[in-house]
Amino acid sequence: MCGIVAYIGEKPARDLLLEGLKRLEYRGYDSAGIAVLNGGLHQAKTAGRVRVLEEQIETDDSFNGSLGIAHTRWATHGEPSDRNAHPHGDQPDTGHGIALVHNGIIENHTTLRTYLSDHGHTFQSDTDTEVLAHLVGHFYQGDLESAVRQALNEVTGAYAIAVVCANEPGVLVVARKGSPLMIGVGSDEYIVASDASAIVAHTNRAIELEDDTIARLTKDNFRTSTLENVTVTPQMRELEVDLQQIELGDYPHYMLKEIYEQPQAIEQCLKGRLSPHEGRVVLGGLAEYVRELGRAHRVIFLGQGTALHAGMIGSYLVEELAKIPSRADFASEFRYRNPIMEEGTVVVAISQSGETADTHAALREASRKGAMTLGLVNVVGSTITRESDAGVYLRVGPEIGVASTKAFVGQVAAAVMLAAWLGRRRFLSPTEASSILEHLNTVPDLMRKVLQQESHIAEVVAKYVQRENWLFLGRGVNYPVAMEGALKLKEISYIHAEGMPAAEMKHGPIALIDKGMPVVVVATRNSQYDKVLSNIEEVRSRGGHVIAVATEGDESIRRICEDVFYVPDLPEPLQPLLTVVPLQLLAYHAAVLRGHDVDKPRNLAKSVTVE
Ligand code: G6P
Repeated sequence: MCGIVAYIGEKPARDLLLEGLKRLEYRGYDSAGIAVLNGGLHQAKTAGRVRVLEEQIETDDSFNGSLGIAHTRWATHGEPSDRNAHPHGDQPDTGHGIALVHNGIIENHTTLRTYLSDHGHTFQSDTDTEVLAHLVGHFYQGDLESAVRQALNEVTGAYAIAVVCANEPGVLVVARKGSPLMIGVGSDEYIVASDASAIVAHTNRAIELEDDTIARLTKDNFRTSTLENVTVTPQMRELEVDLQQIELGDYPHYMLKEIYEQPQAIEQCLKGRLSPHEGRVVLGGLAEYVRELGRAHRVIFLGQGTALHAGMIGSYLVEELAKIPSRADFASEFRYRNPIMEEGTVVVAISQSGETADTHAALREASRKGAMTLGLVNVVGSTITRESDAGVYLRVGPEIGVASTKAFVGQVAAAVMLAAWLGRRRFLSPTEASSILEHLNTVPDLMRKVLQQESHIAEVVAKYVQRENWLFLGRGVNYPVAMEGALKLKEISYIHAEGMPAAEMKHGPIALIDKGMPVVVVATRNSQYDKVLSNIEEVRSRGGHVIAVATEGDESIRRICEDVFYVPDLPEPLQPLLTVVPLQLLAYHAAVLRGHDVDKPRNLAKSVTVE
């Protein structure tokens, strides 16, 4: 959510910043802006995509300096527009020439705005960020770092910021609290960015800035310190992302690329962690906590969006395989409900980015109340991984498409491993565990078979793509898959879709069914198969058109459904790993047929770092 990139060094900043913004554009893309110091402060900002900004400045030599900041925005305060785009400046008549880019929310911006207005400040935008820029200007007395420090001591909320000042043309000041920011360390240059994707083309050495930390950078040196100005020594680490992983290659969209990467993603996720013959799962990240986790009485999965759907599946798996009471909850709801954390509660935060503000805040709350916390996270070194007691990395590689796909199957695979790991410490026999793990190992190849049906799925979608209302139904472990199928369709094709337990349909939503309404039913052979068939009949008798996801070899289901996507058979707990794939492809093709920008759906951002 909002991408920040900043550069200080000897190269031309403009090209580097624009390239960085394009890599970060999946974090938000309603407006973009840049400020470069080059014998004074030169700025450009505009509503729209980064390419619009690029067109404005690509031949403008005034942006040729080698120190600058840039931003791609996902609006919170103030509509997407030129004047609300970042960077924001301080009070113009001071002549300081301060420019600031920000990701996060300054929660006390109203109070600060009033205070500054009383001191003669006038504002050009509706943003909380401009208030912070003015506050820095208010404190500025010739030392940018000191002014930023004083300003940050007055604000509440979350931020990652980068600030420059025309009076100090060799200094870049950055800071973070609650929103991600890392400093790529090159030779005589630094590239600061919201995430590694804007850094890896230049260096693979980076520092993850800690919360409540400020860094002052010159082109050949930097110092990090707390908000109280105590020097801190940051940890340098190697970035594991390589450039090829974040390139589109021959695919038309990242989403499709990532759907096709799923078999390989699962292989990476499972690699070295399964010992099927012994019925053993080896999760290095949990090794130190065997005793505590062995005493777990309750497991609560938390997440948002797609990650929550993986958590819902996780809760089913933990009850099924480990016989521990488990539930899943929206992190955002859990946090404010004053949750009861009795002894033996384990809270599992699921997150691709490891930065989702709601999930992070809920994890903190659980930890504060004494729960043991685990993270099932993809991005190495992200906030949730650093703040949880232990965890399991998904290892599915960078996910760029805003609509999450390969991270979802990684989250489910990690949840299967966690459930089996917990189960082996309780009631799951080695034979039962062996069977699950052996089947888990077959998932990548089975997934490849499902992917071969893409053209059939595209043809089916074409028949229904004009319909504005869809239902997605499933039972048991496939109910969250139905939710995920509906979410995917909503996110990228803007079709209204509801996912729900198949049995719930008759308690209200059945009233929506009219002639030809597409109803997608996950109807694989499992313990609830017969019940799902009854639900399909209920849809049919009201004129709905059923598109089923069924088990290979189930020819009888063809007789009662308009269209069928087949998936190979698997034990029930593993079925979501296959049943979700046709639904991802369905949503993808619906969006393409409707002419939408699949990788940049309207109003969404990949990593939502505000609550
Ligand atoms: C955003 C994204 C979703 C994602 C959710 C949670 O809303 O658009 O695709 O599922 O955040 O993200 P996380 O990084 O925590 O998995």
